[in-house]
Amino acid sequence: MNNGILKILVTEKEIEEATTRIAAEIDRDYAGNNGRLVLLGILKGSIPFLSELMKKIKSNPEIEVMKVSSYGSGTKTSGSVKIILDWQREHIEECDIIVVEDIIDSGRTLSYLCQYLKQKGAKSVRTCTLLDKPSRREVEFVPDYCGMEVPDEFVVGFGLDYDERYRALPYVGVLKPEVYSN
Ligand code: IMP
Ligand code: MG
Repeated sequence: MNNGILKILVTEKEIEEATTRIAAEIDRDYAGNNGRLVLLGILKGSIPFLSELMKKIKSNPEIEVMKVSSYGSGTKTSGSVKIILDWQREHIEECDIIVVEDIIDSGRTLSYLCQYLKQKGAKSVRTCTLLDKPSRREVEFVPDYCGMEVPDEFVVGFGLDYDERYRALPYVGVLKPEVYSN
């Protein structure tokens, strides 16, 4: 185990099982769909989850990415959402979008993005997150697809960072308190 990690919260096997289950749910829900299924990954945290998920979905999804920021540095939220990198498509009205996120915390990022994508004219917009911290909501938001709920602890790994570190871990873990105080 990485030496900044206090405990593992979600193992590689649990991530793999959750991803397999969600891919099957998406295939079931979009079977016979005549639009273009687009997985829209939110950089950078969704990268490992998006790459596992896309391999398991059989309905031939297309891939796009956006980059937004809602967190400043460290573990504090800034409360506002800013688009840093948008996606460009000519016929967004043909796209059934599934926004892919690493984690939902306050709910602000995904509720803002859903509104933004619908306003841009998407055929449909759904959301998919690996992790959810429902106890932290500041705006009401329920994802369409969710890997698992986690308690109100700051987690890292499998895309999730603390100050850009720990994203490459293959599991999700809780940081040792001394990492924050350094
Ligand atoms: P929301 O807009 O508050 O729902 O924030 C979602 C974003 O906050 C995620 O995409 C993460 O980048 C970040 N975030 C929230 N909780 C954590 C955490 O426990 N570890 C790492 N990043 C987090
Ligand atoms: Mg993120």
